[in-house]
Amino acid sequence: MRSFLIIGNEAVTEPFSLNDIPGAGRMDVLCRCVSQALFLSHSIRKDVEVFLLLLGKPDPPKVVRIVSNELRRMSPDERNVAGHIRKALGVKATKEWTETNSGIFVTKRNLKELLSELSKRYNVYYLREDGRDMSEIASWIKDPLFVLGDHIGVKKEDEDVIFNFTSTILSVSNLSLMSEQCITIAHYILDKNRT
Ligand SMILES: C[S@@+](CC[C@H](N)C(=O)[O-])C[C@H]1O[C@@H](n2cnc3c(N)ncnc32)[C@H](O)[C@@H]1O
Repeated sequence: MRSFLIIGNEAVTEPFSLNDIPGAGRMDVLCRCVSQALFLSHSIRKDVEVFLLLLGKPDPPKVVRIVSNELRRMSPDERNVAGHIRKALGVKATKEWTETNSGIFVTKRNLKELLSELSKRYNVYYLREDGRDMSEIASWIKDPLFVLGDHIGVKKEDEDVIFNFTSTILSVSNLSLMSEQCITIAHYILDKNRT
């Protein structure tokens, strides 16, 4: 399995207008991350999970989880992905995972609670531009959970939480990239190193 956790610092936690996806705390960034994480040309990748940690108003934190192997009726365009996230946010979130569509779940957990659960089945890596070159260790990476920020990045207090679960910071480029670009490159590096 491969998984990605994207921290949406201002992404709203209630249903939002599909006519203004960026206005929903830059939900567009998260939608593009979902698309890059899950979709191939005319198909969906197997064995990928995406976790969106939504920290915006009015009811943070919430997590939307998308499981590629169970997903039905999602297409890669931002509006379609946003529609699925919107629907998940219309369902009452509890400490359990509630399925809101095939392969899409919502829960009410903070970063620490989420990483506590995920670190039992994934190896956690923090993506940051000043990290170690991912391609150097790609063949060693198994069952990764890559944690990355949105357009704002990752706040210091969240980094402190992440460092309780990993000490490995990985970089996919010398440049500061957009979140979705990091996901595309991470897939590329790992795909190239799979036999
Ligand atoms: C648009 S960047 C954040 C920019 C923000 N202004 C900052 O300085 O943190 C979004 C996220 O992508 C990841 N990222 C960006 N460039 C990267 C790189 N070259 N290697 C690994 N991760 C990167 C980081 O997790 C970052 O928080």
